[in-house]
Amino acid sequence: MQSSRDEGSDSGKEALLLKIHDFRRAPDCTTKRRQILTRRLHHYMVSYSLKAKDGTEIVLREPKPNDAKQLMMFINPIIREPMSGLLFTSPMTLKAEEAWLEAMLEQIRKRSIVLLILEIEGRIVGTCSVQRRMWKEKHRAQIGIALSRCARGRGIGEVMMRMTVALARRRMPGLELIDLATYSYNTRALALYRKLGFKSVGCLPHGVKEGHRYYDDVFMVIRTDDLVDTN
Ligand SMILES: CC(C)(COP(=O)(O)OP(=O)(O)OC[C@H]1O[C@@H](n2cnc3c(N)ncnc32)[C@H](O)[C@@H]1OP(=O)(O)O)[C@@H](O)C(=O)NCCC(=O)NCCS
Repeated sequence: MQSSRDEGSDSGKEALLLKIHDFRRAPDCTTKRRQILTRRLHHYMVSYSLKAKDGTEIVLREPKPNDAKQLMMFINPIIREPMSGLLFTSPMTLKAEEAWLEAMLEQIRKRSIVLLILEIEGRIVGTCSVQRRMWKEKHRAQIGIALSRCARGRGIGEVMMRMTVALARRRMPGLELIDLATYSYNTRALALYRKLGFKSVGCLPHGVKEGHRYYDDVFMVIRTDDLVDTN
């Protein structure tokens, strides 16, 4: 996998990114200035152009403030799938998605989350996030991933998780453990996590109910050093 552009790797650019975020959110920032800053923000945020195992050209990039509609169109069909692997029961409204994205951008700015979006042929078809815990659990972060049906089964999940963790390690010094929770029926997710080296550390029996059937909520963890850095 080759990266064609990575604007976020040195600390000078990272600091500039933070400043742009701050200017953009200032109450006295005019619409015109906000547009200019947003364009600059796009330039400095991380974006990788890669080829998946099967040759598919993919882009992994950070979110932009105007991604909400596309993100909603990506997540809703997954939510509607039976045994989706996700917690949600009902589709997102545009308003909810906009609020979620704004919160994500703020957390990205604060370095408490990294979020990479997967694009194939200009369409958002996946997301992967690493969210840092707080205070006495600051050495830990939780990873979450979802791909549209069309992007599954091509090894893209593995690439996304590796790249997202690599970015999190750069942005979040002191990160030692990555954990996750998944439902026991989600055999594909479990296979991916095991392949990456995640170990099961327990489960909550009957932690999730799909219709009338119960499944376990499985907890897994990996040390960040045990995941090979692809950057
Ligand atoms: C779970 C998910 C992220 C996996 O990503 P992916 O790119 O589809 O994963 P891959 O194609 O690389 O498959 C991972 C492994 O699972 C195996 N696998 C594929 N389908 C499988 C299945 N139905 N049952 C068991 N294993 C399966 C593959 O063989 C592969 O291992 P390999 O590379 O050694 O052959 C993705 O399918 C997805 O987003 N699903 C919907 C949302 C979801 O479940 N998110 C996770 C919530 S915890």
